[in-house]
Amino acid sequence: MSETANELVFNDRIDTDTQISSAEAMVLLGRSFALLRHVKGLFAGKFLFALVGILPPLLIPWTGKIVVDQVLLQKPFGESEVRFPPFMDPLIAILEGNTPLAIMGTILTIYAVLLVLFGVRAGGAVTSGLTQGHDSATQSELALSAGSSQSSGIFGVIELMINIRLTQRLANTLRTELFRKLARLPMTTLDDNRIGDSVYRIMYDTPLVPEICFNLSIAPLFAVLGAMISLYLMQYSYGPVAPELVWIAAGLIPLALILTVPLSGFSRRLNQASRASGAATTNTMEESLENISAVQSLGGSRHERERFARDSDQSFKRFRFSFLFGQAMFVVSMFCTVVAGIYVAILVSDLIIGGTMTPGDYAVLFGLYLQLGGTALGIGMYWINLQTNVAAVRRVFFFIDYPSETPGDIHSRLTVQDTIRLDHVSYHYPDGRQALTDIDLEFRVGELTAIVGPTGAGKTSLAYLLPAFLRPSEGRILFDGIDIADVGVDAIRDQVAYVFQEHMLLSESIRSNLLLANPTASENDLRWAIDTAGAGQFVDSLPQGIDTVMGRRGDKLSVGQKQRICIARGLVRDTPVLVLDEPTAALDPETENALVTSLQKAAAGKLVIVIAHRLSTIKRADRIVFLDNGRVRAIGSHETLMADTDGPYRRYVELQTG
Ligand SMILES: Nc1ncnc2c1ncn2[C@@H]1O[C@H](COP(=O)(O)OP(=O)(O)O)[C@@H](O)[C@H]1O
Ligand SMILES: [Mg+2]
Repeated sequence: MSETANELVFNDRIDTDTQISSAEAMVLLGRSFALLRHVKGLFAGKFLFALVGILPPLLIPWTGKIVVDQVLLQKPFGESEVRFPPFMDPLIAILEGNTPLAIMGTILTIYAVLLVLFGVRAGGAVTSGLTQGHDSATQSELALSAGSSQSSGIFGVIELMINIRLTQRLANTLRTELFRKLARLPMTTLDDNRIGDSVYRIMYDTPLVPEICFNLSIAPLFAVLGAMISLYLMQYSYGPVAPELVWIAAGLIPLALILTVPLSGFSRRLNQASRASGAATTNTMEESLENISAVQSLGGSRHERERFARDSDQSFKRFRFSFLFGQAMFVVSMFCTVVAGIYVAILVSDLIIGGTMTPGDYAVLFGLYLQLGGTALGIGMYWINLQTNVAAVRRVFFFIDYPSETPGDIHSRLTVQDTIRLDHVSYHYPDGRQALTDIDLEFRVGELTAIVGPTGAGKTSLAYLLPAFLRPSEGRILFDGIDIADVGVDAIRDQVAYVFQEHMLLSESIRSNLLLANPTASENDLRWAIDTAGAGQFVDSLPQGIDTVMGRRGDKLSVGQKQRICIARGLVRDTPVLVLDEPTAALDPETENALVTSLQKAAAGKLVIVIAHRLSTIKRADRIVFLDNGRVRAIGSHETLMADTDGPYRRYVELQTG
């Protein structure tokens, strides 16, 4: 594989080890199979229909024999040494002694009934299903609503509907679960997680899981059952006359397995690569579009276009390769079946000439061989096709298993009525970077605390500890004396509202963005929050006021306006703890002044923490925590800290004011 190809496979930064051993493949298959517990009823329905569906193909070859021997050649029943299977006895009892015309009439009636019920099908030649486009993503989209029936006609349609319903329900269960997990990834994982990859997993990988359930359960079971019945019938009728026929037929299935199984590992790797490059394409698309302004302004459009074209082309190429491989396998197995078929034809002709068989036996044997050959091929191909699914399933279960945040019980009695205490807390990021060292502090309800320090000091990291976006590497965090280490994130976040340094707005109306924080907020609550955040004037000036839609990530607003909406959203939350990360950076002095005044007012009954740069904001805080290089260097009011003429805070302030 070329350099670029390797780079594509490992494009993902979390899910990097993409090899699947056969043992892992078996485990994945087992887990997929277990998912059927979600759809027991539908599965039972599908099972019954599939069971009944194997019967007509068994009947038809024998009626064919009657048409040739008794209708066309007008021989009496029981002339050749070949026995009819027992299930034909009632029909033969009815037909025996009738004129050829009457026999033909009865058989045609049977055919007509079968045609309406099961459609045109004998021996595995026709499978009703949807035609598929040939790249991994398209196939997955189709798989999402896929169903198939070995029958057609009325029976087949019902079976197909049950099957589609079943596939969709499984896919829905699974992709909801996957979405929930992806949405619950810890913040440090999200830093490495690419949206394009997640989209690919949810949209294109999950739909292949339900298919596995069939390829593992009903399909092979009925294939084997059908084959065993055919073999038994062959043995019953032809075993005494021409045992070789039975041996050849029995050899077809092992032959197909011998041909296909050893290649399954290769097929799995091909598919894995094909999916990885599909996800890489989605990543490229997502990252370029997400940062489209940067890409355009930096003159990178051409470069990005080329990168996309390359990734996209690579993903199609890999698909073609794995598709071709599947087809090659099909051709090889088909070839073996045909060779066996020719040999059987010669053998049967000899037996007919010798008088042991009648021409009608051609009809039976070809019917049975066609079915067996189809089954053998099918079983061999299941295994190969299963590898596509295994590659997709691995990608789904990877994130289902990934450690994510535990939501916990939101009704647990966690409160912040008095204090939040950081007890000798240290934090280092997963890559080993030490962001905080031995932080020992108390925040009190009724106080406005400012966290101050140079860029990279660890201010944001410290603030992230409070809503449990990050969990301490060492030390404890106590809410009203209770260690929150084992408390679920929902209960913690129920106490803490966090306004991010970057503005994160949904491309919806201002109202929906605010209601996201608190769905039960009244019109008055919204108004109060907007006014307090200093956004009242500009919101009113918008064409649809609070119902104005803000464009992608709120990009139709100025930075300062977005910031104010984010602050308003934090206020709407109405939690005991409010944390604002540099909220005043993009505000004009007047708005800033008004905001700090409101925050001071809010702080009367709350615990408010503001990360701030501007002296005007910092000065008015009840307490200042000065951070540098991950450590607390000083704590106190502006006046006390300034009094220390050699202190780090004073030096910082003097540097700021020049
Ligand atoms: N996700 C991350 N992974 C690794 N290191 C990080 C991550 N986020 C921040 N850091 C590092 O942690 C240190 C503190 O960062 P931060 O808390 O954002 O500082 P501040 O908010 O004071 O500017 C910095 O050295 C930064 O590079
Ligand atoms: Mg920061």
